[in-house]
Amino acid sequence: MSKLHLHDLLRLHLILSEFWVDIAKEFFWKTKHTGQFLDYNFDVTKGEIFVKCMEGATTNICYNVLDRNVHEKKLGDKVAFYWEGNEPGDEKTVTYRELLQEVCKFANVLKLQGVKKGDRVSIYMPMVVELVVAMLACARIGAVHSIVFAGFSAESLCERIIDSQCSLLVTADGFYRGDKLINLKVIADEALEKCRDKSFPVERCIMLKHLSKEEQEASSPGSLSPPAKRSCPDLQSGPRQVDVCWHSLMEGASDECEPVWCESEDPLFILYTSGSTGKPKGVLHTVSGYMLYTATTFKLVFDYHPDDVYWCTADIGWITGHSYITYGPLANGATSVLFEGLPTYPDVSRMWEIVDKYHVSKFYTAPTAIRLLMKYGSEPVHKYKRSSLKILGTVGEPINPEAWQWYYNVVGDGRCPVVDTFWQTETGGHVLTPLPAATPLKPGSATFPFFGVVPAILNESGEELEGPNEGYLVFKQPWPGVMRTVFGNHQRFETTYFKKFPGFYVTGDGCRRDKDGYYWITGRIDDMLNVSGHLLSTAEVESALVEHEAVAEAAVVGTPHPVKGESLYCFVTLTDGIDYTTTLEAELRKQVREKIGAIATPDYIQNAPGLPKTRSGKIMRRLLRKIASNQQDLGDVSTLADSTVIEQLFENRCCTAL
Ligand code: WTA
Repeated sequence: MSKLHLHDLLRLHLILSEFWVDIAKEFFWKTKHTGQFLDYNFDVTKGEIFVKCMEGATTNICYNVLDRNVHEKKLGDKVAFYWEGNEPGDEKTVTYRELLQEVCKFANVLKLQGVKKGDRVSIYMPMVVELVVAMLACARIGAVHSIVFAGFSAESLCERIIDSQCSLLVTADGFYRGDKLINLKVIADEALEKCRDKSFPVERCIMLKHLSKEEQEASSPGSLSPPAKRSCPDLQSGPRQVDVCWHSLMEGASDECEPVWCESEDPLFILYTSGSTGKPKGVLHTVSGYMLYTATTFKLVFDYHPDDVYWCTADIGWITGHSYITYGPLANGATSVLFEGLPTYPDVSRMWEIVDKYHVSKFYTAPTAIRLLMKYGSEPVHKYKRSSLKILGTVGEPINPEAWQWYYNVVGDGRCPVVDTFWQTETGGHVLTPLPAATPLKPGSATFPFFGVVPAILNESGEELEGPNEGYLVFKQPWPGVMRTVFGNHQRFETTYFKKFPGFYVTGDGCRRDKDGYYWITGRIDDMLNVSGHLLSTAEVESALVEHEAVAEAAVVGTPHPVKGESLYCFVTLTDGIDYTTTLEAELRKQVREKIGAIATPDYIQNAPGLPKTRSGKIMRRLLRKIASNQQDLGDVSTLADSTVIEQLFENRCCTAL
């Protein structure tokens, strides 16, 4: 691929603007945009970084994904979601009209609770329709949702509530994940307690009663029957003044609510993602560009047809759920499956049973789920026909060719294209992806950029590499859905993504381009780990470990794992005089779970009386990665201050996961 010159870029810019302006015509705008379609500065040396899309226009994304479908497109009776609960048989169908009514009601509830345009609302909920209702209700009144994945700990929730300065929390009593009961409200209460301790009292907490009485009382969840009618009784007499009940608030609410018309660049949501310095970053997306981008990528990448039944298995607590369960599919009037449960519960055929039950035609999941199911062979897949499937998608981490082949041949019977979509919380939507049937596939490659996305590969000195090559993956110009800032910290936004190579957005991923111009993501090149498709920063886990009084120093690296992609391998140096015991090990593990959440649970913890350091005192993680995966060939160790630690570390290696 040849280098793009300035005039080519300008021409491309004009063509793209026309492309997007045409797409924008299909949406509802209260007032039209005035300036150019996309205005931006991607070069820190020229001033502040900014991206503005459709300035001057006013719209409402909730109106576009619901009212427009119900009133203009006459899709009121079309199913928006088939909700499939954790327990087979627990199910519900919601049409576009019903969803609109519920959203209007909840928007009125929020208004009555004092939520106004621009206010932040934290949402900490399981995968239930009410989660979608809560997020769209925020969008309807111009409030900014900040969804926290329900697997995060009280500490993580508290940190995110304070960082985004949320005045209200929406949560639920609890839910089942497989046969495990998660008492979400208990964790939420703990988080609110912590917020109060840190002088940030949250004024209101709305709780959805999701568990049935039987579920709460059940000691053997395997024997559950579908839950009975849900309501939340006597909350007002509960211990917390801030608590209000979802159901009683909704009972009195009107189902009509005029949307609040927002400027194109008004904030839509904040979603936290791990940052390499440890503190999570509040990635901020805005209304119009995100709406156009998620709608269009959904339509083209999944080759959307009105009779499709689409199913994305991600959790809405992650960006994949925001863009490709809520906004993208609803903007197209699509019918989706919303699944609360796990791929392995009650058995490893659950996914394929659901595919047949709802005649799913487009299916989107993560390599970690594919590798997990692959372990059980093809028999659980073959128990179901899967003849409705047309396109299979993958996201979250590089997919190894073996998993790709299994997905393509066993799940898709060799007849459904696999779209390997590369993107990030920051990119808002797919940026490198095949278009089904149009792009010849190569297993393991996310193939080519989406329309308007201009990638480049740079070497360490920031020079752009031509042709087949490997280096840093960057983007030369914005697309409508790219993040606008880190909430409350624009400087961190510029430093993280734009300082290393001025003029480019830096993804943090390594990438190879082959002789045919295909892009192959090689994984993170910063201090980030990808565990089961979830990004974690080593610094975040290390600081959770050193908060334990027995730990003097900690260093965390990733080591290859057959299902999770990477697992967490932690080296800890103990405080003088403390012995390393299995009890301490269990405490450390618990400590990380409590600080961050179950996704960050260490797989290995090794007692490391000494860590390999350079003479200037920097921990040499490269060597620790080798030790964790037992690779004796260490390469250049000349900068190591004390080489005796290496031998000791090899001797003490953990061979089995905790
Ligand atoms: C990784 C998830 C290879 C990558 C949507 C990226 C991928 C990070 C792919 C973002 C893919 C995501 N192939 N790697 N198809 N998709 N990644 O923010 O390292 O949770 O930077 O967004 O996941 O993770 P995030």
